[in-house]
Amino acid sequence: MADLAVLASGNGSNFQAIIDALRGSAHRVVGLISDQPNAYALERAHRTEVPGRLISYADGKVAAERELRSVLAQLQPDLIALAGFMRILSPGLVDEFPHRIVNIHPSLLPRHRGLHAIERALEAGDRRIGITIHYVDAGVDTGPIIEQRSLERDPAWTVADAETAIHTLEHETYPRVLVRILDDLASVGKGAHG
Ligand code: GRF
Repeated sequence: MADLAVLASGNGSNFQAIIDALRGSAHRVVGLISDQPNAYALERAHRTEVPGRLISYADGKVAAERELRSVLAQLQPDLIALAGFMRILSPGLVDEFPHRIVNIHPSLLPRHRGLHAIERALEAGDRRIGITIHYVDAGVDTGPIIEQRSLERDPAWTVADAETAIHTLEHETYPRVLVRILDDLASVGKGAHG
């Protein structure tokens, strides 16, 4: 068994897919951490009885990350999944969790790092669009790639159509990849219960 903490700022549809997938696995989601009081992800956590924690960035990043460290110290996750978490973690914090923080990004990295990746892929006329799951390092969307999946875009698609297709791909892929990493962590004895 290994324990996962999820960080999310918004809707939390990936968080939901992760909870649903882990329910049938040996692993647990031990907490949902959000920086946004109105994040629907917090509501999803409440409904599924996953402990939800709000980290306020109102007093700046240093104070927020102090609190984040303390919450993570309580939760003791084996792995941390960013799922639409819209804050950039400071390099010092990332270094404290080497190969223990994973992110999902809605583009085929290294293309379209940062915000509005789906929109930018369409603007660039990309025929294939997709998603990347990667370890988080000190850069923005630069860490080692774990898995990518792509699909051919219908030229008639709007941004909303592309978003729907990308989200479907994310919900199929992210939980599966996380379970695989959690399985590996548990099997090498780094999981919560060896
Ligand atoms: C996803 O598209 C993810 O790739 C990006 O943020 C979005 C989060 O969506 N990092 P949701 O909150 O999981 O619905």
